Amino acid sequence: MSKDRFEFGKNWESYSQLIDEDRIAAAESRLASLLGMPDFSGRSFLDIGCGSGLHSLAALRLGASELLAIDLDPDSVGTTRAVLDRFWKKPNSSVRQLSVFDLDKDGIGNFDIVYSWGVLHHTGDMNRAIRTAAAHVKPGGLFAVALYGKTRYCGMWTKIKRWYVGASPEEQVRAERIYVRLYGLYLLLRGKRLSTHIANYNKKRGMDFYHDVRDWIGGYPYESISPRELVALLEPLGFELAKQNVRRRSGLFGSGNDEYLYRRRADAR
Ligand SMILES: C[S@@+](CC[C@H](N)C(=O)[O-])C[C@H]1O[C@@H](n2cnc3c(N)ncnc32)[C@H](O)[C@@H]1O
Repeated sequence: MSKDRFEFGKNWESYSQLIDEDRIAAAESRLASLLGMPDFSGRSFLDIGCGSGLHSLAALRLGASELLAIDLDPDSVGTTRAVLDRFWKKPNSSVRQLSVFDLDKDGIGNFDIVYSWGVLHHTGDMNRAIRTAAAHVKPGGLFAVALYGKTRYCGMWTKIKRWYVGASPEEQVRAERIYVRLYGLYLLLRGKRLSTHIANYNKKRGMDFYHDVRDWIGGYPYESISPRELVALLEPLGFELAKQNVRRRSGLFGSGNDEYLYRRRADAR
């Protein structure tokens, strides 16, 4: 991987050592809640930018009939394969090293559910990535996507992230420590404790605070989008908004992922 993008896969490989039944249960619960259904039986599932593979595994455990997980980063692909080998031993999944931009060329077809959480804003061409991912949703199917929201600090974070990917490992560790200290102080000023935040962190999506800090500071390329911009992109493609979890935040400590669930109209072409 070149130095103009973050090596997500190495971070996911390290995080994957922490995956256990509690984290899988948290991931299943959040995925079912976002999709608005506890049972994916009979539905095909495409996970674009699968990272650690935790949510691919969650989709299979929720009953997805067929899973294709793709990621640009070979370490994410290897990690996802290892996680599925460990926790899912059935043959209805496939993990491939593929960019979202190469999905069309590859003739992989369309899916009942296309899921891409925290990915398309890291591709270097977010709008094209969103359109390409959306094109792989079957008519009547669902497009579940999480994207960084727009904040007044997006410009500042773009510069920090660009610096981070070119920094030495020592500088990167120092930057992460500074971030954690400042974030702890911020929580304290709001009467909250960093230790409690870290202890409860895995309940969110089964993730880990320290790995997510690295993912956030390093995550470059970086773009962000507002709910209005997303709807303007997807409506002409035959999508209707079913649900959105959009939070207002300052953005000082991160843009945060806004979650969206769109349904492709059954008569969409
Ligand atoms: C922040 S991680 C999110 C991982 C996972 N979706 C999750 O929710 O934990 C972003 C992932 O997107 C992958 N990615 C970045 N650009 C990509 C592209 N063009 N095509 C496919 N995957 C990409 C990265 O390698 C990384 O594993």
